[in-house]
Amino acid sequence: MAETLLEVKDLKTEFKRGKKDWITAVNGVSFQVRAGEIVGLVGESGCGKSVTSLSVMRLHSKHNTRITGEVTFEGKHLLELKEPEMQEIRGNEISMIFQEPMSALDPIMRIEDQLTEAISLHNQGLSKSEVHARCVRALKLVGIPEPEMTLRNYPHELSGGMCQRVMIAMAMSCEPKLLIADEPTTALDVTIQAQILALMEQIRNEHNTGILLITHDLGVVAETCSRVIVMYAGNIVEEAPVKELFRNPHHPYTKGLIESVPRLGRRVRRLPSIPGSVPDLSAMPSGCRFAPRCAYARPECSARLPELVEVGPDHKCACPFYANVRKEA
Ligand SMILES: Nc1ncnc2c1ncn2[C@@H]1O[C@H](COP(=O)(O)OP(=O)(O)O)[C@@H](O)[C@H]1O
Ligand SMILES: [Mg+2]
Repeated sequence: MAETLLEVKDLKTEFKRGKKDWITAVNGVSFQVRAGEIVGLVGESGCGKSVTSLSVMRLHSKHNTRITGEVTFEGKHLLELKEPEMQEIRGNEISMIFQEPMSALDPIMRIEDQLTEAISLHNQGLSKSEVHARCVRALKLVGIPEPEMTLRNYPHELSGGMCQRVMIAMAMSCEPKLLIADEPTTALDVTIQAQILALMEQIRNEHNTGILLITHDLGVVAETCSRVIVMYAGNIVEEAPVKELFRNPHHPYTKGLIESVPRLGRRVRRLPSIPGSVPDLSAMPSGCRFAPRCAYARPECSARLPELVEVGPDHKCACPFYANVRKEA
């Protein structure tokens, strides 16, 4: 089995609300990402996916955030590092791509200057022409057809898809071992989305990069990921290899998500979806947080939070009644 790059153990992220109240956005999650694998982190909006990834990168404001648990990257305990040590890791060994490329690019700087900044930061002592050559190479890697021209452009002169490619080029220019991509294709149209996903697979194949791909779109996961982690209201509720998850979902939430994916060739008047919405952090239901929306819920579900347990090879689920879900599926 490939080496484990990132190991997250019992990660809990709380935000301060008011003078002394803390609310829990991520409620003790554990998972791993290995070199060369693309792991999908899925769940509806508001389930804690971004908070999880920002916690791994330690990008939350210190003043109102409390993060506990263990985040180990190649043997280093990230939560215990001093800020300058963490900065070394950020952008050097772990890179992050965000949903909105426009918000991450500087609107008044040409692409070349932004890429040069990123490249020089991690490769001191390169000559001007060497840096330029690296800029060209970085844009070529992400399939930009005329890199010399794009380098001279400002972000607003590029399409959304091109900006996202530039973002990925910047993230990849330091050859990170781990790439965290938070909804990298959500703002893009379907054709560009497919190209960006193909690009991620290519990067993984060529550089053995481990990728944590965050999305609310199970279609994206089915196409790209080898393993899937399903998150609901701050907890991991299921984890399995991608084929197993789609063929054999155990958790009622996963089953609901899969049924909500529109399928080609299947004409449906209305998509079946999960009733209700993700609970607010300040009003978390007791016991299983999905119970109020769950078609299989029993009174005992509200008594305590179910644990994530092994239910098959590489397959974990946090619903003690998963057998009922499977019978029906
Ligand atoms: N800085 C913050 N302060 C307080 N609450 C936050 C903060 N960031 C996110 N949240 C809340 O945490 C929950 C999870 O958010 P998020 O991780 O962004 O969800 P998603 O799965 O859509 O990425 C949401 O209820 C969100 O409102
Ligand atoms: Mg998010």
